[in-house]
Amino acid sequence: MASISMRSLVKKYGDLTVIPELDLEIPDHEFVVLVGPSGCGKSTLLRVLAGLEAVNGGELLIGDQLVNDVPAARRDIAMVFQDYALYPHMTVRQNMAFSLEMRGMTKEEIAGRVTRAATLLHIQDFLDRRPKALSGGQRQRVAMGRAIVRNPKVFLFDEPLSNLDAKLRAQVRAEIKALSQQLRTTMVFVTHDQVEAMTMADRIVVMKSGVIQQVGTPEEVYETPTNLFVAGFIGSPAMNFLPVTLRGDWAALADGRTLPLSLLGTGAANRPEGDATLILGVRPEHFTVAPDDPDALAVTVDLVEPLGSDTLVHFRLAETDAIARVSPDLRPKPGDTLPLIPVRGKTLLFDQDSGRAIR
Ligand SMILES: Nc1ncnc2c1ncn2[C@@H]1O[C@H](COP(=O)(O)OP(=O)(O)OP(=O)(O)O)[C@@H](O)[C@H]1O
Ligand SMILES: [Mg+2]
Repeated sequence: MASISMRSLVKKYGDLTVIPELDLEIPDHEFVVLVGPSGCGKSTLLRVLAGLEAVNGGELLIGDQLVNDVPAARRDIAMVFQDYALYPHMTVRQNMAFSLEMRGMTKEEIAGRVTRAATLLHIQDFLDRRPKALSGGQRQRVAMGRAIVRNPKVFLFDEPLSNLDAKLRAQVRAEIKALSQQLRTTMVFVTHDQVEAMTMADRIVVMKSGVIQQVGTPEEVYETPTNLFVAGFIGSPAMNFLPVTLRGDWAALADGRTLPLSLLGTGAANRPEGDATLILGVRPEHFTVAPDDPDALAVTVDLVEPLGSDTLVHFRLAETDAIARVSPDLRPKPGDTLPLIPVRGKTLLFDQDSGRAIR
């Protein structure tokens, strides 16, 4: 168990700077989820933490120890990859025992650790099978088991669930979360999956081009994103962005229709002077169907996606494609007119040029 400190950490591949200068403190026991678009440097950062890639600047500390020059094998970190990387010619038991044998641990100690990890992961019955005789989810659990037996200070996971089908994903996701609470080991978990990020993380780190955009609890990054990038990246379907001009007590959309400023929360009051164009952010679930509200905006439904639990309605508003999440009981059809209004105080405002949220 250990904290991780990254201080002005730099990672380059030749001339390509993948991580320009990154600062992040991960306290002991924390479950951190790293998210960001493809190529933003998530795997690179994990590989740097694990010691599989050299640091090109700054400091990396595990616990109190500066580890910039400590080789991977002596960092006491376990990494679980997307493709499991199990040894095909070994049984599950041998896969899990291998690193402990290399360390010269006694047979009894190894057997004890393998049994404990296998029980934790519900793979006791497969210990004598080879990986090819296991399902994807079972292989994934063996890969985790191989990491757990080492009793590492830190676990790193690089999209470990992306090869699993939706049901198994949900199951293994819950298992990893439970495991993290039992083992209380510091964990850094990379994922593309919104639900994984929101449900598993103590804190979410949102990255873009090797630069951290925001670090916060799932609620913080969802409810108070610091900029347009985070607002658009977290949440599915994504937040709707509508250009607005604020004048007097009204916010005018690009098509000239208006919403009362009082709907838009504190950002409207704290905006810069003048009639600057701002971006209004409204999450799909923060549109309500309000036939009796004189301020509601009539929109024409383009497309309807019934999801069972709720229904996504696609429409155009002020020259922008937008989505509202509405009750499945409404059953709107393409071509219908729907009176929509943002939920009071739930919208966000952003500066168009800098992208920063205005609160
Ligand atoms: N060994 C390498 N040599 C040179 N460039 C590399 C190397 N590994 C990664 N890169 C580059 O570094 C950048 C970050 O890659 P990385 O694999 O960390 O992205 P990622 O955030 O994990 O993306 P994904 O979500 O697609 O897995 C990319 O531009 C990639 O092409
Ligand atoms: Mg990656």
